[in-house]
Amino acid sequence: MFKFLLFIIFFEQVYMGYCKYAEIDENGYILYCPCMGRFGNQADNFLGALGFSIALNRTLVVPPWVEYRTGETKSVQVPFDTYFNVSQLESCHRVIVMEEFMKKIAPTVWPESKRISFCYSVRGSTGSCNAKDGNPFGPFWDTFDVEFVGSEFYGPLHYDVHHSDMVYQWSRKYPSSYWPVLAFTGAPASFPVQMENKKLQKCVGWNDKIADQAKSFVKNHLPRGAYVGIHLRNGVDWVRACEFISSSPNLFAAPQCLGYRNERGKATSAMCLPPFELIIRQLKRIIRANNDVKSIFVASDSNHLIPELSKALKRMEITVHKQEEPASPHLDLAILGRSNYFIGNCISSFSAFVAREREVRGYPTIFWGFPPERTVSYVSHEEL
Ligand SMILES: *[C@@H]1O[C@H](CO)[C@@H](O)[C@H](O)[C@H]1NC(C)=O
Ligand SMILES: *[C@@H]1O[C@H](CO)[C@@H](O)[C@H](O)[C@H]1NC(C)=O
Repeated sequence: MFKFLLFIIFFEQVYMGYCKYAEIDENGYILYCPCMGRFGNQADNFLGALGFSIALNRTLVVPPWVEYRTGETKSVQVPFDTYFNVSQLESCHRVIVMEEFMKKIAPTVWPESKRISFCYSVRGSTGSCNAKDGNPFGPFWDTFDVEFVGSEFYGPLHYDVHHSDMVYQWSRKYPSSYWPVLAFTGAPASFPVQMENKKLQKCVGWNDKIADQAKSFVKNHLPRGAYVGIHLRNGVDWVRACEFISSSPNLFAAPQCLGYRNERGKATSAMCLPPFELIIRQLKRIIRANNDVKSIFVASDSNHLIPELSKALKRMEITVHKQEEPASPHLDLAILGRSNYFIGNCISSFSAFVAREREVRGYPTIFWGFPPERTVSYVSHEEL
């Protein structure tokens, strides 16, 4: 009898330990590869995937960030919490980071024989989703030793859960009892981020490490007083994209300025690649209007224009700064996010991330060349 009781106690503990070890969401999971673009695009997509998971009431498996290193042919997968605070994300929705999901949940809920990849329709010529074809697709799933045994084409369903009965259609076609895991070839989200999902930025906050690095950079490298953070997107790929701006009036993140249906105008070359004179004019305007400004912090993917800006603003006693090389783009974002004033690029999703974070904090954002100067002076002339 005593032995039997002992056995019961032992069994209970093992059983309870097991439950604690892998608490499974009966509503299922959403998993995806952030296979498009760099950080700015992936962050846009992340908000969409989060919105989609909330709407379907499934746990979001939070993927690592896909990063590219010069000289390496395969993408590098960097865990979400390297930069961001997972508890903050948990306060918005049920989430689990992918590293943990693969270790604790996948063996029971998503065994190797059940790994089906989801895509809208056939990709490539193999009649499948071709989920691991190319970079970063292959390296991403290889990071977790995932091989797919089949494909599921979910078209004509889509991710816009804010209009129509899309949520109902997803749950009817893919009930979680039969499909506990929906593993998408790409993010279940549109680009740029849908207007309804922008507010989810409040769920994405820097972890203590990045936030502290940003604070100490400002404290140790910038003079006391307010600073203007600016984003200069001017690498060769960008210059080329901007050449086509007149034929793509809603390019990349442009809707953040122009509206999703271009209701606030069309993208211009000055918004995409502001000329140096325009940059100086806008900076001087802010500096004159706010006499607490003592310095400028520049983030750029290519040319920070430090000597040029320093020279142009010397008379105003403004100093110009950037991170030492090699600069971390995430630290750039965090420093821009906390700046007193920020001038961003309408077209850039990197700027859009900063603008959203600032909106959450109630900080203002200004954009290069928007609204267009000519319109502004014309309006004020009319008003005179
Ligand atoms: C969503 O899922 C959670 C956890 O399983 C559950 O408690 C909640 O009632 C669900 N919400 C809806 C609207 O079904
Ligand atoms: C996440 O945010 C909470 C609340 O601000 C904080 O207490 C915690 O230390 C943060 N965790 C990390 C890892 O940054």
